[in-house]
Amino acid sequence: MYLVGETTHGHHQIEMACNTCHTSPFGGTEVLQDACVSCHGEELKAVSDSHPRSKFTDPRNADRVEILDARYCVTCHREHQEDITGAMGLTLPQDYCFNCHQDIAEERSTHVGLGFDTCASAGCHNYHDNLALYEDFLLKHAGEEDFLAINRRKALNSLQIYLDLNNPDMLEPSDVVVPDWIAVSTEISEWHSSSHQQAGVDCQSCHQPDEQSDGWVESPSMEVCASCHAPQMESFMLGKHGMRLKSGLPNMTPDMAKIAMKPDMSEALLHAELTCNSCHNPHDVNAMEAAVEACIGCHNSGHVNSYAASPHGQLYAQMHQGNLELKHAVTCATCHMPRVEVIEENHRVVRVNHNQNDNLRPNEKMIRSVCMDCHSLAFSIDSLADEALINNNFTGRPHHHIRSIDMAVERDSQIEVRDDSYQ
Ligand code: HEC
Ligand code: HEC
Ligand code: HEC
Ligand code: HEC
Ligand code: HEC
Ligand code: HEC
Ligand code: HEC
Ligand code: HEC
Ligand code: HEC
Ligand code: HEC
Repeated sequence: MYLVGETTHGHHQIEMACNTCHTSPFGGTEVLQDACVSCHGEELKAVSDSHPRSKFTDPRNADRVEILDARYCVTCHREHQEDITGAMGLTLPQDYCFNCHQDIAEERSTHVGLGFDTCASAGCHNYHDNLALYEDFLLKHAGEEDFLAINRRKALNSLQIYLDLNNPDMLEPSDVVVPDWIAVSTEISEWHSSSHQQAGVDCQSCHQPDEQSDGWVESPSMEVCASCHAPQMESFMLGKHGMRLKSGLPNMTPDMAKIAMKPDMSEALLHAELTCNSCHNPHDVNAMEAAVEACIGCHNSGHVNSYAASPHGQLYAQMHQGNLELKHAVTCATCHMPRVEVIEENHRVVRVNHNQNDNLRPNEKMIRSVCMDCHSLAFSIDSLADEALINNNFTGRPHHHIRSIDMAVERDSQIEVRDDSYQ
C-alpha cells in the first residue's frame, strides 16, 4: 500500500522489506548509499569498478561531478520509477557517457565518428565491470583461434580434499542405522552410491542432526545442509534463488517469479520453496542432474528450451552416453553457476558459486568466468553480443564482429610507430 511505485527487476523479490534500503526513516541519499554499498560494495570492488566513488571525490574531477553526481548510486539507479527504468536498473538516458568523455574522439583516432550511444554497447565498455574489456587484456588475447586447444575448465575437488583431510572410514551398508519403521528403500539405495556415503554423512547426520532434535526429523531443513556447506549457502543467498532469505523474508517460490516459469508446473511445485533440494535430491546429491534437468523443470524461455538441441547441449548428451569426459560437457550450470577456486586450510578447493546472478549481467562477466575456458576472447565477445545467439542458446556462429580487439591492436601499433619516430 505504501509502495510509491514498483521496484526494479533486480529488487522485486525484496521490495516488501522496505528497511533493507530505507534503513532509517529520516535518511535520504546518504542512507540509501550505505544500503547499496553494504549489499553491492564487495562485488563492485572485486571487478575493479572502473568508476568508483573515489574517482569523483578527487578534486581534479570536481567539474564532472557538477554535471552528473556519480558519487551517488541513486544518480543513475533510482527506484520505484518503472517508467524511466531500463535494463539493469539504469534510470539515465543511454548516451550519458557524453557528460564526462566528450574529448574521446579527439584523443583517439580509433573513436572518431562513433556516437555516444554506442560506448556501452555489447562488447565495448561497461560502466563498472571492464575486466574482460580493458585494453591490455584485449591485446593479450588478440589472434587466438575460436576453439582453444586445451580445455581449462576446473575440476571439482572438494570431496577428494575432504577425504584427504579427514581420512574417515567410509561407511559400509551394514554400518547404517535406519529406524525400522522406514519401509521405503529408495532413499537408502540412492544414498549408498552418493558422496555423502563416502564422506561418512549418514541418515542421522540430516534426520537427527543434533542432541536437541526430538527423534527422527522427517523433512530436514536447509539449515542442516548449511551447517556443513556454509560457502554454498552464502552464495545461494546472494542471487535470485535465495536473496529473500538474506533480507529475512521466507524463501522464493516459482509463483512469485517475474520471469517465465514452465506453464505446466504442478500446483505443489509452483508454491514449493526454493531450497537446496529444488536442485539436489538429498539422498543421491547428484550434481549432474542439478545442472540441467532441475533447471529445465522450472525455467521456460526460447533460450532455455533451445539448450538441448544446441552444440553445448549435444556435448552434454554425449557425456550422458559415456562418449565424452565430464569436463567437456557444457551444462546450464557451467555458464550460470561457475566454479571458483578458494583456499581452505591450505588446500586449493574448487567450489560452485551458487549465486547464478553473479556473472549474468552485463553478460561480458561470463567471458572470463566461463567462455574462455574453451573459446577465444574474440569469439566469446562476438557470441555474447549477439542477442539471437543467446535466444537460441548458442546454436550457430555469431552474426556480427565486434571491433574492440582490432581497435586495441590498431592503437597499439600507432603508439609503437610514434615511439619509433621519437627514437
Ligand atoms: C532496493 C531498495 C529499496 C527498497 C526495498 C525500497 N525502496 Fe523506497 N526508495 C529506494 C530508492 C533508491 C529511492 C530513491 C528514489 C529516487 O531518488 O528517485 C526510494 C524512494 C522512496 C520514496 C520516496 C522518497 C522521497 O524522498 O521522495 C518512498 C516513499 C519509498 N521509497 C517508500 C518505500 C516503501 C514503502 C518500501 C517498502 C514497501 C520501499 N520504499 C522499498 C529504494 C528502495
Ligand atoms: C539487501 C541487499 C540489497 C540492497 C540494500 C540493494 N541491493 Fe541491489 N540487488 C541485490 C540483489 C540480491 C540483487 C539481485 C541479484 C543480482 O542481480 O546481483 C540486486 C540487483 C541489483 C541491480 C540489478 C542487476 C541486474 O542484473 O539487473 C542493480 C543495478 C542494483 N541491485 C543496484 C542497487 C542500488 C543502487 C542499491 C541502493 C539503492 C541497491 N542495489 C540496494 C541486493 C541488494
Ligand atoms: C553514472 C551512472 C552510475 C552510477 C553512479 C552507478 N552505476 Fe551501477 N550501473 C550503471 C550502468 C550503466 C550499469 C549497466 C552495466 C554497466 O555498464 O556496467 C550499472 C550496473 C550496475 C549493477 C549490475 C552489475 C554490474 O556489475 O554491472 C550493479 C549491482 C550496480 N550497477 C550497482 C551500483 C552501485 C551499488 C552504485 C553506487 C556505489 C552504482 N551502481 C553507481 C551506472 C551507474
Ligand atoms: C561522471 C563522469 C563520468 C561518466 C558519466 C562516465 N565516466 Fe568514464 N571515467 C570518468 C573518469 C573521471 C575516469 C578516469 C579517467 C579520466 O580521467 O578520464 C573515467 C574512465 C573511464 C575509462 C577508462 C578505463 C578505466 O577502467 O579506468 C573508460 C573505458 C570509461 N571511463 C568509459 C565510460 C563509459 C563507457 C561511460 C558511459 C557508460 C562512462 N565512462 C561514463 C568519468 C565518467
Ligand atoms: C544430506 C541429508 C540427508 C541424508 C544423509 C539422508 N536424508 Fe532422508 N531426507 C533428507 C531431506 C532434506 C528430506 C526431505 C525431502 C523433501 O521434503 O522433499 C528427506 C526425506 C526422507 C524420507 C521421506 C521421503 C518422502 O518421500 O517424504 C525418508 C523415508 C528418508 N529421508 C530416509 C532416509 C534414510 C533411510 C537415510 C539414510 C540411508 C537418509 N534419509 C539420509 C535429507 C537427508
Ligand atoms: C554432516 C555434514 C553434511 C550435511 C548435514 C550435508 N552434507 Fe552434503 N556433503 C558433505 C560432505 C563432507 C561432502 C563431500 C565433500 C564436499 O563436497 O564438500 C558433501 C557433498 C555434497 C554434495 C556434492 C556431491 C557430489 O557428488 O559432487 C552435494 C550436492 C551436497 N553435499 C548437498 C547437500 C545437501 C543438499 C544437504 C542438505 C539436505 C547436505 N549436503 C547436507 C557433508 C554434509
Ligand atoms: C539452482 C540449483 C541448485 C541449488 C538451488 C543448489 N545447488 Fe548445489 N549445485 C548445483 C549444481 C548444478 C552443482 C554442480 C555444478 C558443477 O558441476 O559445476 C552443485 C554443486 C554443489 C556442491 C558440490 C560442489 C561444491 O561447491 O563443493 C555442493 C556441496 C552443493 N552444491 C551444495 C548445495 C547446498 C548446501 C545448497 C543449498 C544452500 C545448494 N547446493 C543449492 C545446483 C544447485
Ligand atoms: C524450483 C524452480 C527453479 C529451479 C529448479 C531453478 N530455478 Fe532459476 N529461478 C527460479 C526462480 C523462481 C527465479 C527468480 C525469478 C524472478 O525473480 O523473477 C530464478 C532465477 C534464476 C536466474 C536469474 C534470472 C534473472 O533474470 O535475474 C537464473 C540465471 C537462473 N534462475 C538459472 C537457473 C539455473 C541455471 C538452474 C539450474 C542449475 C535453475 N535456475 C534452477 C526458479 C528455479
Ligand atoms: C553457454 C552459456 C549458457 C548456457 C549453456 C546456458 N545459458 Fe542461460 N544465459 C546465458 C547468457 C549469456 C544469458 C543472457 C544474459 C543477459 O545478457 O541478460 C543467459 C540468460 C539466462 C536466464 C535469464 C534470462 C531471463 O529471462 O531473465 C536464465 C533464466 C537462464 N539463462 C537459464 C538457463 C538454463 C535453465 C540453461 C540450461 C537449459 C541455460 N541458461 C544455459 C548463457 C548460458
Ligand atoms: C567446456 C568448454 C566450453 C565452454 C565453457 C563454452 N563452450 Fe561454447 N562450445 C564448446 C564446444 C566444444 C563447442 C563445439 C561443439 C560442436 O562442435 O559440436 C562449442 C560451441 C559453441 C558455439 C557454436 C559454434 C558453432 O560453430 O556452431 C557458440 C556460439 C559457443 N560455443 C559460445 C560459447 C559462449 C558464449 C560461451 C560462454 C558463455 C561458451 N561457448 C562456453 C565448448 C565450450
